[in-house]
Parts: sequence; C-alpha cells; structure tokens
Amino acid sequence: MSSFEEDVLIGLSESPRWLPCKYLYDAKGSALFEKICDTEDYYVTRADLEIHRHQIAEVAQLIGSNAHLIEFGSGSGIKTELLISALLQPRAYTPIEISQTALDASVDQLRKRFQHLDVHPLQADYTEDIDPHHLHLDPVARRRVIYFPGSTIGNFTRDQASTFLKRMGKMAGDDGLIFIGVDLIKPINKLLRAYDDSAGITAEFNLNLLQRLRNELNADIDCDAFAHESRFNRALQRVEMHLVAQSPTSIGLGEQHFEFSKGESIHTESSHKYSIAGFQDLARESGLNPVRYWLDSQAQFSMHCLEPGQ
Ligand code: AVI
Repeated sequence: MSSFEEDVLIGLSESPRWLPCKYLYDAKGSALFEKICDTEDYYVTRADLEIHRHQIAEVAQLIGSNAHLIEFGSGSGIKTELLISALLQPRAYTPIEISQTALDASVDQLRKRFQHLDVHPLQADYTEDIDPHHLHLDPVARRRVIYFPGSTIGNFTRDQASTFLKRMGKMAGDDGLIFIGVDLIKPINKLLRAYDDSAGITAEFNLNLLQRLRNELNADIDCDAFAHESRFNRALQRVEMHLVAQSPTSIGLGEQHFEFSKGESIHTESSHKYSIAGFQDLARESGLNPVRYWLDSQAQFSMHCLEPGQ
C-alpha cells in the first residue's frame, strides 16, 4: 500500500476527518497554487513580493558579504532572484526541495542568471532532519542564511512551527540568520476570501485532492458531492480549507467504506495567522531572537529576521 493510501485511510477514519495538505500539491495542484498566487483575492504573494521589491536592500545589508544562502523550497523564482541580486558577493546557494522537477527548473534559471554563484541543490523534505553533510556548507562563507519566504510556516501547527524554527536555528549556526515570511491576522472576511477566491481557483485546488483519490487510489467517490469551503478557526487563529459533503455520500477505498452525512467535512489544510508579537514569542520559545521585521505598505504580511539565541 502506498503511503498516500495509508495516510488517506488514517485521515478518513478519524473524527473530524482530515487529509494531509501535502497531497494538494501534485503537478495539477502545484499549477493551480501558482494561479491562486496571481488572483486578486490571495493578497499573500503580492504583499510578500512588495516587501522583497522595496526592502530587500536592508535585508541584504543585514546579511553582509560572502553568505551561504540556504532556501527552504525551490527557489521561488522572482523573490530569490531579487534577494540574490541584492547580496554582496554571495558565496553559495542551496535550495532544498522535495520535487526534483521543481528543483531542476529553478536551479537552471538561477545558474543562468548568476553564473558565478555556487549552486548546490538538495532534493529532500525540508520538514525532516537534514544531514549537514548534504548541505555542501561553504567553508569560506562568513555566515549561513536560512531563507523561507512565502507563508508556508502558517501551514504548520504552532508545535510543528516551533520544532521547525528550532531546526532552522541549528542549521543557521552561531553567526547565522533566518529570514522567514509570516502572514498576519486581519479581518476575517478578507482571510476567507483569500482562501475561497471569486474565480473559484482555490475551490478547484482543494477539490483536485478528491480527484487524486479517484484517479490514483481507485477510490469510489462522487467528487461532485463535495464543495470547497474556507472557515476561520478563532481559537487556533487559522483559516481552514474543508471539503464539505453537499448531500449524504460515501467514499470507498479498498475494503473500507466511509459514510458522510450532509454537511460533514474533510479538513484539508490550515493556514495559521500571527500577530508580530505572537510570532516573535514563538521564535523566542524556539530559541531564536527577533532581530527585526518588515511589512508591506498595507501591513498584511511580514518578513522576520531571527538569529539563534546564545
Ligand atoms: C502554500 N501555502 C503557504 C498556502 C497558504 O496560504 O496557506 C497554500 C494555500 N492554500 C490555499 N490557498 C493557498
């Protein structure tokens, strides 16, 4: 049995039902996510880019010269290019990405653009422990800089985010710095719209997960019986994506049958939202000191610089 099938069986057996959000990102899901980033309603990417466009010189100044840049994710195109262009004599760049295809595409582009930069891509799951030997640490680099733009930290629970920040601190080492994008708490209607855009792309992105169950796991499923919904969970300060049964239905997977009553949902993703102080507290609890942070002009999104504490 594939781990996908195993995870689906576990998630559908639990109450409330859930599926791991990593399965949203097959080739079609990743392409749909790119389209979400271009929608008017999903402010996150625009705000993150604005910070990069207007404040990257300050970021580069904090980093200084001869840095080894380690990015979690596949060198998210324009943002990575803006950062590397602003850096003074960067020594090396290591993007860590689980998808070999995404890694190859971004590395090709960056190697063409920055011909003197040592690029050492690493195909790995950055949410797991990474053997430092695989990082090709540059012995001459003055410091290591961990770079995690976007707002993927929001897709982790608070505990997972803390574990992840601790791991980043270890990887950065004594003189290292961490730059991380964090989406901010804002009016609920704005958040709900961002995760249920008017063009229906987020709905397609979420429903694609059910198509994966049908196509890849041979699940007996009526995808049209479910609808996408974004919900705000006040207690946990997060937007949740759900797939909600519109009428009584069932999902058959192998020997198992999962019955759904009308209104019953499968929770597919959480995006936690932070205040500046709330995220800084989380960083401190995780052994990192906040150095400074930047906001876009509408204070929708933040980029934080953190350093490992003594
Ligand atoms: C990848 N991640 C940061 C996105 C987010 O905002 O949580 C995924 C996403 N899900 C729906 N829209 C965007």
